[in-house]
Formats: sequence, C-alpha cells, structure tokens
Amino acid sequence: MRDEAPVYYNEKYDFWALTRYEDVAAAIRDHETFSSAKGVTLDQVKAKDSQPVGVKIIISLDPPEHERMRKLVNRVFTPRAVASLESMVQATIDRYVSQLDPSFDAVADFAALFPVEIITSMLGVPAQDRQQLRLWLDTSLEREPGSMSTTPEGMEAVMKSAAYYYELIQERRKKPQDDMISRLIEAEVVEDGEARRLDDIEITGFCTMLGGAGAETVTKLVGNAVVVFADNPDQWQKLLDDRSKIPAAFEELLRYEGPSQYQIRTTTRDITLHGTTIPEGDPVLLINGAASRDERFFPDPDRFDIDRERKVGYNLNFGYGIHSCLGAALARMEGRLALNTLLDLIPRYEIDRSGLKRVHMTNVCGWANVPVRAV
Ligand code: HEM
Repeated sequence: MRDEAPVYYNEKYDFWALTRYEDVAAAIRDHETFSSAKGVTLDQVKAKDSQPVGVKIIISLDPPEHERMRKLVNRVFTPRAVASLESMVQATIDRYVSQLDPSFDAVADFAALFPVEIITSMLGVPAQDRQQLRLWLDTSLEREPGSMSTTPEGMEAVMKSAAYYYELIQERRKKPQDDMISRLIEAEVVEDGEARRLDDIEITGFCTMLGGAGAETVTKLVGNAVVVFADNPDQWQKLLDDRSKIPAAFEELLRYEGPSQYQIRTTTRDITLHGTTIPEGDPVLLINGAASRDERFFPDPDRFDIDRERKVGYNLNFGYGIHSCLGAALARMEGRLALNTLLDLIPRYEIDRSGLKRVHMTNVCGWANVPVRAV
C-alpha cells in the first residue's frame, strides 16, 4: 500500500487509508481536516452515520471541547505526577510476579493483570472489582472474524461496565475519597463563559475511556515484547548487559509492534494527496503501524534494533498532536518496570510457539497467550 496505493480506497467497507510516514504524521497533526468527532473506530463512524459520537469522551472530541476535557485530567498524567506512582506500580508488578511458576503465560498470568490494577486503582475502583472490569473490557473489544461490530456479549459487557462505574460515581458523590472519580465530580468546565460540573454520564465516559486505554495497550505492549525479544535474543542480551537501554527498547518496541496500529478520522473538507482527492465526510484510517515501518523514514524498518537512531517524530504509535496519548508517561514507566522485572525473572527463556494465540480485538493488536519457560 505504501508503494502502490498511498491513498488507498476500500470499496467493500468504504474507507480510505494512509500508510506513508509523512502522510500519516501530517494527517494526525491536522485535527481541523481530520476530525475525531464521529468516532475513532470504523464501526463507530459507520454506525453513527455522520452523527457525532453521543457520549463525550476526550478521544472523540474536537476542539474546543477536547481541550476543556483534557485539561481536567492532564495533571494526573504529567511525567512528574506519574513518577510519584513508581513504587505503587512496582509493587503491583511484584505481586503478580511472585505468584509465577518457571513456566507461565506472559500475557494471561502477567501482562493482562497488572496494568488494569494500576489505572483502576487510580480511578478509585475497589481491589476486588478491578479484574472483572478487565474481563468486561476484553469481551467488549473482541470481534468475530469478518465483522467490525461489537458482539451481543460485547454490548452486554459495555452496559455492565458503564453501570458499574455509574454506581461507583453515586457512592463517591455521597462519600468522596482521594481518587480520580472524586476529583472529576468536583471538577468544573467552563463552557460559553459559564462554569459547570460534569454529569454522571460524562464521568462514566472518562472512567471507561481511561480504564480501557490504560489497561489494554500496556498489556499488548508487554506481551508483544516477550515474543519480539524471543525472536531477537541478541537484543535481549543487550538489555541484560545494560539496563539503561530499557527506555530505548520500549520506544523501539512501540515502533516495531505498537499495540495501537491505526486511528480513524473523518475528513472535514476535500483533501488531495498524491493526485487523489478524499471527499469531505469520508472515514480515513491513519495506519501508524504501517507508517512506523516506512523505509522512506526508517532505515531498514523491519529490523528490530533497540539502538536505532531516534529521529524527531520517531514514534507515531502514541498518536500525535492534540490527541497524543495522555497516558504516555505512565505507559513508559509501566513498560520500563515490567521489562526490568522480566529481565530478572527470565534472563534466559523460550516461548512455546504452538501456544501463541492472538487477540481478535478492535483498537489493539497483540497476544492473548504467550507461554514462556525459563531455561
Ligand atoms: C503502550 C501503551 C499505550 C499506547 C500504545 C497508547 C496509544 C495511544 C494512541 C495511539 C492514542 C491516540 C488516539 C487518537 O489519536 O485517536 C492514545 C490516546 C490516549 N491514551 Fe494511550 N496508549 C497507551 C497507554 C495509555 C495509558 C496507560 C493510558 C492511561 C490513562 C492511556 C490513555 C489515553 C487517553 C485518555 C487517550 C486519549 C487522549 C485524547 O484524546 O486527548 N493510554 N493512546
């Protein structure tokens, strides 16, 4: 597609796709032409048939609403604020690692479990309910082969999770605690010169979004890491020799096999690229996964190399521009601590390839099962 159809059109599903680094980077920055307001997955865009997404969650808002909502949670996710969470994150990781046998499933027994604990505990979800939220989330993201719609079980899971958060918000309204839900209840947004509080539906939207984005992605990144390093043992050895390379390894993992491979936008005007015009109002897949392997930007892009030179704009896989990943600092910290822990736990390991199983999910790409054995 990058070489032969840089502005690709899919007749069957009626969407466009960009795959070259320069095109994806420019489009993802240009939120005026490439709007998020009709949804950020193709099923949302199609289902709403040109209506803006009903619930106001930051990922599917355009300015000025987007800025208002993002401001409310920005402070929690700055690198400085996130640094203060390091001991909690490490303790959470250690809690799961201490239960592992020499043979374990790097996703089902580890990577799937700890990220959701971290983000939902920040929100204020009681410990006993956190894994249930993850199971509902998994079900809601799963797709049948050939279908882009949420399954009936998925719809039910969405409702259950929304109802759960709704109830929790009522409890926090009565009895605030030191958590994000209580702070969102108190937060004010200024709209048309008037300050107002968020309603229950808006806070539920925040919780669902943060709980989802904060859990699934890190899980996929860590699962992908275990497979990618098994395929590239020389790179694992580099980390064993020098742990200061872990942050660079995280960035290269994100480029090489990012958990979020594409973002959807809807054009707000006709736009011509490489001689082809995408009409106003059409969905466009910005395939950052393909852009991250574009040989026009990355020399030898299919080589996994943690020492790769990181140019400006190196990574599109945390998004770019106004919607760039809010949780990037947290994700980087979780990834760094998880890799460091795995280096101690399985300095030498093998994966059982017959047991590898991919997820079939919207939004995220990665493994459901990665059986490993320390050797
Ligand atoms: C490796 C892990 C992660 C990856 C690969 C990732 C990827 C992304 C990407 C590509 C976007 C842009 C979406 C778009 O442009 O439409 C995004 C946005 C976002 N991410 Fe992450 N993410 C990760 C971890 C996290 C974590 C831990 C959180 C925790 C809170 C989080 C919260 C968000 C939120 C709230 C947005 C929407 C921001 C906005 O619309 O302004 N993400 N993420």
